[in-house]
Amino acid sequence: MGVKKVVLILAFLGFLYLDGLPLCTASGVHNYTYILKETNFTRLCSTKSMLTVNGQFPGPVLRVQKGDTAFVTVQNNGKYGVTIHWHGVKQPRNPWSDGPENITQCPIKPGKKFTYEVVFSDEEGTLWWHAHSDWSRATVHGAIVISPKNGTSYPFPKPYAEEVIILAEWFKGDVKELIDEATASGADPDPSDSYTLNGQPGYPNNCSIETTFRFPVQYGKTYLLRLVNAGMNEEMFFGIAKHNITVVAQDAAYIKPITTSYIMITPGQTMDILVTANQAPSYYYIAASPFFDSSAPYDTTNTSAILQYTGNYTIPTTIPYPTLPNVTDKAAADNFTTRIRSLASAEHPVYVPKNVTTRIFITVSVNQIVCANASCGGPSGNRLSASLNNISFVTPSTDVLQAYYKSLPNVFDKDFPNLPPYKFNFTGDVGNNTLYPSLGTKAKLINYGDVVEIVYQGTNVGNAENHPMHLHGFSFYLVGTGYGNFGLTNSTKTYNLIDPPEVNTIGVPKNGWAAIRFVANNPGVWFMHCHLERHASWGMDTVLIVKNGPTKETSIRPTPS
Ligand code: C2O
Ligand code: CU
Repeated sequence: MGVKKVVLILAFLGFLYLDGLPLCTASGVHNYTYILKETNFTRLCSTKSMLTVNGQFPGPVLRVQKGDTAFVTVQNNGKYGVTIHWHGVKQPRNPWSDGPENITQCPIKPGKKFTYEVVFSDEEGTLWWHAHSDWSRATVHGAIVISPKNGTSYPFPKPYAEEVIILAEWFKGDVKELIDEATASGADPDPSDSYTLNGQPGYPNNCSIETTFRFPVQYGKTYLLRLVNAGMNEEMFFGIAKHNITVVAQDAAYIKPITTSYIMITPGQTMDILVTANQAPSYYYIAASPFFDSSAPYDTTNTSAILQYTGNYTIPTTIPYPTLPNVTDKAAADNFTTRIRSLASAEHPVYVPKNVTTRIFITVSVNQIVCANASCGGPSGNRLSASLNNISFVTPSTDVLQAYYKSLPNVFDKDFPNLPPYKFNFTGDVGNNTLYPSLGTKAKLINYGDVVEIVYQGTNVGNAENHPMHLHGFSFYLVGTGYGNFGLTNSTKTYNLIDPPEVNTIGVPKNGWAAIRFVANNPGVWFMHCHLERHASWGMDTVLIVKNGPTKETSIRPTPS
């Protein structure tokens, strides 16, 4: 082959790259290019410039098969530093490409690029990627679709077609300004102006009816919806008018099918849902509404799309709208979430860790910090804050992974405690002694192979709320959940150690608890935080560091170049 021909082929490959198209260089390896840039969008009758990937909102879908690797080169042509996280991808031994800003890497500066090596292992179904710097994930996010390996199939009949459905939030103003102002004042940030479904607020929001997202279906066919809650601050109910839906996977792990008229999904979670077009051919609304039980401000709107049958029929003058539970209806939320069970059965048992070696009990609280002369914008002139075990996380300026790997001093402490500093009636009348957290960058060190149980205990401190807790680098078993204070003997009796769901984000109920278990078999530096962005920015975060095991195969991979 002549030199000229090689150059031409390389130029062609380069063209594919720039186009943002996936380019398969070998089976199981994918290359993507994500260009971060400001793009103009008009929603709710007003136009703004916002940060996007490749000019798209939501961003491009990352498509792989189970066990593949994707190299994603992120070129930052935006105005400020950003990182990208691959939410729910375990990245065995590879925290280098996990993404949270100043936890595993420093931000990709404007004009610079960074290539992530996203290593898939046993995930199958739907996950998502999002920016992990300040609140930039509001506009920088997209789905990850992980198909079964060639020659294998879904544990349900193959759907006729599939569609990604991303729930998100639209802020009329600039999201960075919004959070910067809220941080400066110490007040609650303003809620979003509407939710979006695949980038569109939809009916009945202002200037949104024409552009409502439409999902065409053929009568008699079954479709797979890959649902992502990319929202910032609210859990959501979701349903389709007159159609039952069947949930078959959560967080890229299959579950026993649940047929229901609605679901509840927290920010961070993903669900795979089957819907059969078995109603009279017509238009039907698909809708999502908030589930929010707190006195904090929230976005009270609904978002919708249209399930639109193909064929000839008269378009109804009133399109049926789904009946979703009331905004504070926790019984409705629980009715759905308590039905979620993994596929495990007598024939296909799963190993749920039994002999716990490391027990961590974490209080999850919304707090306040006192400001001089009551000069802040939060309650009583205080600043709003949040904490885990009463420690409000301070993000360091050097990333924790580098500091850990190179033993750099003064970046973080290794003493995140296994218990809160005081015992009190967590979910009762809590008094004032825990309202004020201490500040720190504290990580929890865990030995390779430890069998870890974490109990998250919601508290009535400050403002009780639900908290969707998320852990990077793992999926874990949700073995139990309940209301009130966790009790070591009474609560463990209610554990499901047979077929608990295996997930990466769990909703800790308001004034309740949730218990998770996992084996610490992924060495690395893994962020753990509430996936409500308000709480995460106020310090409801910590870092789990899983130490290296005895061999190369059980150790963090060498630093990439
Ligand atoms: Cu989707 Cu650190 O999170
Ligand atoms: Cu929270």
